[in-house]
Amino acid sequence: CASLVGGAPLLGFKSVPVGTADAITVPEGYVAQVIAPWGDPVGLSGENPAFKFDGSNSAAEQEAQMGMHHDGIHFYAQDGSASGLLVMNHEYVDYGLLFKDGSATWSADKVRKAQAAHGVSVIEVEQKDGRWSVVTPSPWARRITARTPMAIGGPAAGHALMKTAADPAGRKVLGTLNNCGSGRTPWGTYLTCEENFVNYFSGPDAPDAHQKRWGLKKGDGGYRWAEHDERFDAARHPNELNRFGWVVEIDPSNPSSTPVKRTALGRAAHEGATVALTKSGRAVVYMGEDSRFEYIYKFVSRDAVKPGGAAANATLLDHGTLHVARFDADGKGRWLPLVHGQGPLTAANGFADQGEVLIKSRQASDLLGATKMDRPEWIDVDAQGWVYCTLTNNSNRGGKDQPGLDAANPRANNTMGAIIRWKDDGDHDGLSLAWNHFVLAGDPANTRPEAQGNVKGDAFGCPDGLWTDARGVLWIQTDMSTSAMGKGDLARLGHNQMLAADVRTGEIRRFLVGPAGCEITGATGTPDGRTMFINIQHPGESPSELSDPANPRRISNWPDQRADGRPRSATVVIRKADGGVIGT
Ligand code: FEO
Ligand code: CA
Ligand code: CA
Ligand code: CA
Repeated sequence: CASLVGGAPLLGFKSVPVGTADAITVPEGYVAQVIAPWGDPVGLSGENPAFKFDGSNSAAEQEAQMGMHHDGIHFYAQDGSASGLLVMNHEYVDYGLLFKDGSATWSADKVRKAQAAHGVSVIEVEQKDGRWSVVTPSPWARRITARTPMAIGGPAAGHALMKTAADPAGRKVLGTLNNCGSGRTPWGTYLTCEENFVNYFSGPDAPDAHQKRWGLKKGDGGYRWAEHDERFDAARHPNELNRFGWVVEIDPSNPSSTPVKRTALGRAAHEGATVALTKSGRAVVYMGEDSRFEYIYKFVSRDAVKPGGAAANATLLDHGTLHVARFDADGKGRWLPLVHGQGPLTAANGFADQGEVLIKSRQASDLLGATKMDRPEWIDVDAQGWVYCTLTNNSNRGGKDQPGLDAANPRANNTMGAIIRWKDDGDHDGLSLAWNHFVLAGDPANTRPEAQGNVKGDAFGCPDGLWTDARGVLWIQTDMSTSAMGKGDLARLGHNQMLAADVRTGEIRRFLVGPAGCEITGATGTPDGRTMFINIQHPGESPSELSDPANPRRISNWPDQRADGRPRSATVVIRKADGGVIGT
């Protein structure tokens, strides 16, 4: 039987029902433990400022604490499965929670605290008798924020479009923003991805064509940073926007290392960056761009990975070829190279050199005729070489004046999303591919046929996070938006959830349901398969809060459940009560 691995079924747990509790629900026989919520100290030496439940921690204290809105996460084992480093993203902030008085009395200090709550945390964690805790202080602990100095690597380093008044050489930038999905490399580094960076910038009265293609609008995008940090004023410093939208490489084993923005991987509203290896040892990085009608990319390194860890591969991701995907109606497709001088990517068409092709990768992909997708989010690869990508949803698909349906994006008003998968004709480095849909997400109880889906198992919508564990289980995490959750096509799906898929049979089974107002995102585990770490992001987010950030209506107090507290994003540790392997 194809669903049997080593004689045991791949999915051995009893499915959990749809739920609306303000809690984590896991299957019988499993336990969930919360660690490292927003505001807890990361364990820098000598500084351990406690979280203040009224939101009154200072900017300096936030720089030593876990950031807000946990997202992509990876575990780096140090002592087998007993201890290691957790490295995770903090995607964005919620001013109603971050400050005691929300966005009232806006100040430079508030901008600084908001910037400090973004970025990445590195924490040391250890297990004793099945309970995990953060080690404080730890020599590995680190906060990387929206102000941390970073280098720029690859063909766009030093490019005219990357130069600013503060950095006339175009080779150094402060910080990383809106870090959403992530990846890990075989040489031990962490890849953090800059997603909706444009929202942090204030645009000029009349944005130019390049700025418009990247979504820059007149005035502030909502975060109000430009009022106190002029580099976010794109009318005064137009090139600063070009310095975001990259994949950033961080070496967690060296706390004093400088993160590097890897421009050879292209610029996008990056979701994640998943690394596969060719048989010849070259690195292939798969990346989705989570935006309606944007693209799926892969980068193939020029050189093979060398033994010797991060130091030996310090420039591996600076040399190689970026490609964008075209999915054809016959189930085949092409990887189209984004190489200056090839096809339409010429000076006559506005690309002076390879750096400009990478900075303007959206415009280049438009000219190449790549397929406009339904918001590609996380990507992962199974043992057979199939590459899976979540297409989370796209309610504009097929709408008035919007791109129509195509074979890869076949549903109008796509509220439910899908998981597409492909295999290329080479070894992750081929130029042609064969594809199909692993699943069209949905709920068969819907009356609208486009929202019913074809799930073999438990209903779900809006797949986002993806992770293949060592046994081959494909874990699927959902992100039904706060404004759509519990209504319309999503009415019967409760809170966001995590499901497990048997990629051989297509069976999908619900494993976990999250607290109110959250999404589930990021998954990683220990080498022994007995501990899984996931992140709970934006618990308590409510439609009323989105419309009036200063006066959030509290729909969650997870995980602290204190009347005087506030909901906090956090990491959840999942184990079997008997210490067994997760999923069995
Ligand atoms: Fe930050 Fe695409 O989710
Ligand atoms: Ca996401
Ligand atoms: Ca999402
Ligand atoms: Ca998110």
